[in-house]
Amino acid sequence: MSLLIKNGRVITASSDSVCDIYIQDEKITAIGTDLDLHAEQIIDARDKLVFPGGMDPHVHLDMPFMGTSSSDDYTSGTRAALFGGTTMVIDFVLQTQGDSLYNALRAWQGRSDGRAVCDYSYHMAVTDFNDQVAKEVAQMIEVEGITSFKTFMAYKGALMIDDGQMVQLMQVVKKHRGMVTVHATNGDMIDSLIARHRSEGKLSPLYHYLSQPEVTEAEASARFADLLHYTGCTGYIVHMTCEGALNAVRRAALRNQKLYVETCNQYLILDASLYEREDGHKWVMSPPLRQKKDQVALWSGINQGLIQVVGTDHCPFRWEQKMMGKDDFSKIPNGHPGIEHRMELMYSEGVLKNKITLNKYVELTSTNAAKIFGMYPKKGTIAVGSDADILIFDPMQTHTISSESHHMHVDYSAYEGHQVTGKTEVVILRGRVAVRDGSCTLDPGYGQFIKRSRVAKMI
Ligand code: URP
Ligand code: ZN
Ligand code: ZN
Repeated sequence: MSLLIKNGRVITASSDSVCDIYIQDEKITAIGTDLDLHAEQIIDARDKLVFPGGMDPHVHLDMPFMGTSSSDDYTSGTRAALFGGTTMVIDFVLQTQGDSLYNALRAWQGRSDGRAVCDYSYHMAVTDFNDQVAKEVAQMIEVEGITSFKTFMAYKGALMIDDGQMVQLMQVVKKHRGMVTVHATNGDMIDSLIARHRSEGKLSPLYHYLSQPEVTEAEASARFADLLHYTGCTGYIVHMTCEGALNAVRRAALRNQKLYVETCNQYLILDASLYEREDGHKWVMSPPLRQKKDQVALWSGINQGLIQVVGTDHCPFRWEQKMMGKDDFSKIPNGHPGIEHRMELMYSEGVLKNKITLNKYVELTSTNAAKIFGMYPKKGTIAVGSDADILIFDPMQTHTISSESHHMHVDYSAYEGHQVTGKTEVVILRGRVAVRDGSCTLDPGYGQFIKRSRVAKMI
């Protein structure tokens, strides 16, 4: 199977030129101007932007959580990702406390195998560290190609580990050249604020926000950075939201630490005023949305190189699931839908509002995650020899985000009515047209599990 993309403006993290891309089977085999090669299929990309397929390293598909399960399964979630130009996602396997990593891995494989439409990998969440788990960490890295280990400093009793376990895990992961990632918020302090608000009858979604003040994230991010510094392990903070946490990373950079950071669309675009709405439940996520001053800090952190990745933390729940907490914010399942619109929102809100360059856009949405998580240059770029994962994007087309037209399995949108300029037109995944003319043309099962290499390429 051969495919020729003609005359697009091809943007990578470090280049920008009008050229042709030739694809044979799953790989890019030639790039140049006026390529004169026979192809079974030709796509005219004149006046279009051509990006590496998006890489979203933070999604939760079909995840059991807070008494329910996230509402996108592997088919609906990965198909929605493709509709928005994302060709690969990384999900989280959650160890059940008291049980093994391998049992958790098998449970997740049971939900993903044969069902994914786009490519995927897993982070392994370690929620209970012991000697047996230490051996499994090594096996995950050496045998399974799972090289990043997620930790939670919150959600006590379900997912949280203490600092002693964190240090031991970091030591083992460092030995095997993996990476520890973290949900960095102070779980004990949050639990005590939740208990106080509930005892005072303060039960609306606003109190979800007020139970997780900025200091809970700033403190935990600094503590995580300190423990990394002590152990020498490589680290990554997921879904950073605020200035105080960013300053903890700034201090880590001053002592020459390499600590990677991800933020998410919603923290760059939406703010905490939404919690005062009647339907504020829709934005109950952890950490919560913050202030406008935090958005300014995050955009600056991106351009200062302190934040390398924008993910989504896609963790959708339908409205009836959100209503489990209609009378008590602490029972609202945490998370929101985002997998579909990351590429379009970052273009519209970032590039078109002059907050980031086109090359930075590619870094944030694709290349850096591929590098950090051990997949570059197979994924995350447009180069000869790379997987042909490509987004052809119409920079002029405007549209309005709505649950009426989105493909995620959730009955509301966190961005309902939001106007964006720039739209996914064609998506190619490993050489096959995945999305064109508003339809997804790949079947469940086309998406492959991607084994990752151990060493994060320094960026
Ligand atoms: O609210 C969120 N973020 N839900 C998903 C789990 C997590 O903490 O990432
Ligand atoms: Zn989290
Ligand atoms: Zn998450």
